[in-house]
Amino acid sequence: MDIFELIRTRRSIRKFTDKPVPDNIIETTIEAGTWAPSGKNNQPWKFAVIKDRELKAEVSGLTHYSKIVLSANALIAVFLDNSASYDRTKDSQAIGACIQNMLLYIHSSGLGAVWLGEILKNKDKILTLVNGPEDYELMAVIAIGYPAEEKGEGHRNTPAKSIFFNQ
Ligand SMILES: Cc1cc2nc3c(=O)[nH]c(=O)nc-3n(C[C@H](O)[C@H](O)[C@H](O)COP(=O)(O)O)c2cc1C
Repeated sequence: MDIFELIRTRRSIRKFTDKPVPDNIIETTIEAGTWAPSGKNNQPWKFAVIKDRELKAEVSGLTHYSKIVLSANALIAVFLDNSASYDRTKDSQAIGACIQNMLLYIHSSGLGAVWLGEILKNKDKILTLVNGPEDYELMAVIAIGYPAEEKGEGHRNTPAKSIFFNQ
């Protein structure tokens, strides 16, 4: 698949089969994330991988999207390391690029994922669950697994509708 097709066909997957996600896929997903650009190449991201069933159940209690968390075979929690941060806006942008790299790699591997943001309302509790240091701040949880749902084409505004200046 060419890169544009890969980008265009990635959809958020929220239902997963029981098939385990191989460890090497999780590791390469994180490696893909780390190849994102970051301001001054400060690489402000940190990751926690959650596969344990009981731990996932605890995470599921911290979000409205508990069904997605329980259905996912693995979770990758993505943190901003505030001790490595030099500019909150730029570091947040780098984390977003990191997460998108991860989502695209997952999609290219035939798996599915969804970026969970609502769970940030309990970011401190998630940090405690994974024994993270206080400098780490949760930015997203990515729920991963083999897709158990087919998604459609998705919808986006056309470039013409999105470009407001072009001269
Ligand atoms: C910052 C951010 C937070 C999101 N939070 C959630 C979430 O908490 N729960 C959820 O089901 N999807 C969440 N999503 C996924 C979006 O709903 C989804 O990307 C969007 O509807 C477009 O659909 P698509 O990813 O299938 O193209 C989030 C996406 C982003 C970028």
